[in-house]
Amino acid sequence: MASVSVDEAMRRAIELAARGLGTTSPNPVVGCVLLDEGGEVVGEGFHAYAGGPHAEIVALAQAGQRAKGGTAVVTLEPCNHTGRTGPCSTALVQAGVARVVIAVPDPNPVATGGAATLRAAGVRVDLGVRVDEAEAGNVAWLTSMRRGWPYVIWKYAATVDGRSAAADGTSMWITSEAARIDVHALRGTVDAVLAGVGTVLADDPRLTARNLRDGSLAIRQPLRVVVDSSGRTPADAQVRDGAARTWIATAAEVGAGPDGRVDLSALLAALHQRGVRAVLLEGGPRLAGAFLAAGLVDKIVGYVAPRLLGAGPTALVDAGVTTIAEAIDLEFVDVTQIGPDLRITALPRKREG
Ligand SMILES: NC(=O)c1ccc[n+]([C@@H]2O[C@H](COP(=O)([O-])OP(=O)(O)OC[C@H]3O[C@@H](n4cnc5c(N)ncnc54)[C@H](OP(=O)(O)O)[C@@H]3O)[C@@H](O)[C@H]2O)c1
Repeated sequence: MASVSVDEAMRRAIELAARGLGTTSPNPVVGCVLLDEGGEVVGEGFHAYAGGPHAEIVALAQAGQRAKGGTAVVTLEPCNHTGRTGPCSTALVQAGVARVVIAVPDPNPVATGGAATLRAAGVRVDLGVRVDEAEAGNVAWLTSMRRGWPYVIWKYAATVDGRSAAADGTSMWITSEAARIDVHALRGTVDAVLAGVGTVLADDPRLTARNLRDGSLAIRQPLRVVVDSSGRTPADAQVRDGAARTWIATAAEVGAGPDGRVDLSALLAALHQRGVRAVLLEGGPRLAGAFLAAGLVDKIVGYVAPRLLGAGPTALVDAGVTTIAEAIDLEFVDVTQIGPDLRITALPRKREG
């Protein structure tokens, strides 16, 4: 087999890491490619699920003796601690790896220090190859570890004129089946799905990740969270159906903000404590407005149907904007057609001051 460059190997390691998206929390996604002394690929691995072997261990097992004198190319600094598995830094040293190339240092205070351990053992360590791509592939985990609360994606569906339902309240379905299938795939990549009690009372959603064609549930289900200040979620609400774990987050349990409603920052901190790294905020408009007003949304995914209603509720209510100077400015990062609809992905721009 032909030899590959460290840069090519890192591109491959980032691809491998992405295969773990949605199943590794509270751990990051990680990919590893092992090259022998001549630069040939002798092992590949990715972290598939929390508690399972780390990417480096999978690649080392494949490489066997051929790892000796070789180079390990890893998307994230190898861990340095014994959790459910042993430290990867020690495993790399024991395998006789001569060089380790890392894209991103580990921000987790518990696991960091792998690079130092490797250097102390005489292994050459290089950091910073394809950093932006590796960061993007792990954005939810890295963001949540650096600041202590989860990465929040607000998802909504609306007509071209921004309506989420018709004037008489009918709203099933604004967008196409293709768009709804895409939403279920998105649910499969997060650790928790959030909805306000208003949506639960109006629509009685299940909030599970499932196959829309046959109704079968995805193997891994995100935690369902109803943001419900005074516990108004009905006992027979579908969200309580036992198909996935559910948390009715009340103000009494989480803490209340100045308006007496659930304190959203405290809610995110509590979710982080439970190992949640990525959250899909599924509305409704009032809860989304409160999250946006508090600057707690990291990414917006809007499904826009090629329809007009001209009247009826809007997809967003009261985001703390009263004058144009206060508008929440966005940067569009992707626009993709999904069936007849558009999926628009945008990032809120950081506000000055
Ligand atoms: N187009 C879409 O993408 C989409 C998505 C979802 C829903 N919807 C539609 O939205 C409608 C429901 O809208 P909604 O605005 O009444 O529902 P909502 O945003 O789901 O829920 C709002 C409720 O959440 C509770 N809440 C708890 N803590 C809060 C906080 N800190 N800030 C704000 N709210 C907090 C409040 O009730 P308590 O004070 O009692 O806790 C509030 O009334 C439905 O008709 C549904 O079809 C549309």
